[in-house]
Amino acid sequence: MIEILDHIAKEKIIPVVKIDRLDDTLPIMEALKKGGIGIAEITFRTACGADAIALAAKNCKDMLIGAGTVINAQQAEKAIKSGAKFIVSPGYSQAVTEVCKENDILYLPGCVTPTEIITAIDNGINIVKFFPAESYGGLKAIRAIAAAFPDIRFVPTGGIGPGNIKDYFVFSKVFACGGSWMVKDNLIKEGNFAEITKLSQEAKEYVGV
Ligand code: 3PG
Repeated sequence: MIEILDHIAKEKIIPVVKIDRLDDTLPIMEALKKGGIGIAEITFRTACGADAIALAAKNCKDMLIGAGTVINAQQAEKAIKSGAKFIVSPGYSQAVTEVCKENDILYLPGCVTPTEIITAIDNGINIVKFFPAESYGGLKAIRAIAAAFPDIRFVPTGGIGPGNIKDYFVFSKVFACGGSWMVKDNLIKEGNFAEITKLSQEAKEYVGV
């Protein structure tokens, strides 16, 4: 688990990837890698999500592959079986927490209220996804919540991109930022993997890693 956390801390950016066609999986991973990003959160928003995770986990050993939009225990189990090394949810799920605990897998639940954060703490979780970050008050809200929870770190996601990512990293409690801006649907659909690489390179430059 420490290795996984170190990897995420070094990357600082977690691309949230939605894959509609399984065949796009490896070209997307290669494009991210070429752009200097060694991590991907592949979401369960599409029918081939789990297969894409399995494909990426098997073929991209130098990347950290996780599962996103995991909202129930079955998906969590499937993600872990497919080779996901971390699990992300848009909200807090007790069922997903239990599966991740049993499998000793990092879980980043979505928490935007103090109550949700207290539930996470009760379950031994000290890093949460703050989603959708911009809609829930952005860095201002994170700072206010963080004041009450000194041991919690945040992964703001949702509405983050080139224009505001730097602002988030001003705050030391921001562990990493997630986002889909470098892997937008249209780029994938058009097979514009060169642009994914370019946006990934730029993203790394913004955060200085
Ligand atoms: C997610 O589920 O994490 C989001 O879709 C990412 O948000 P974004 O598309 O606004 O970057």
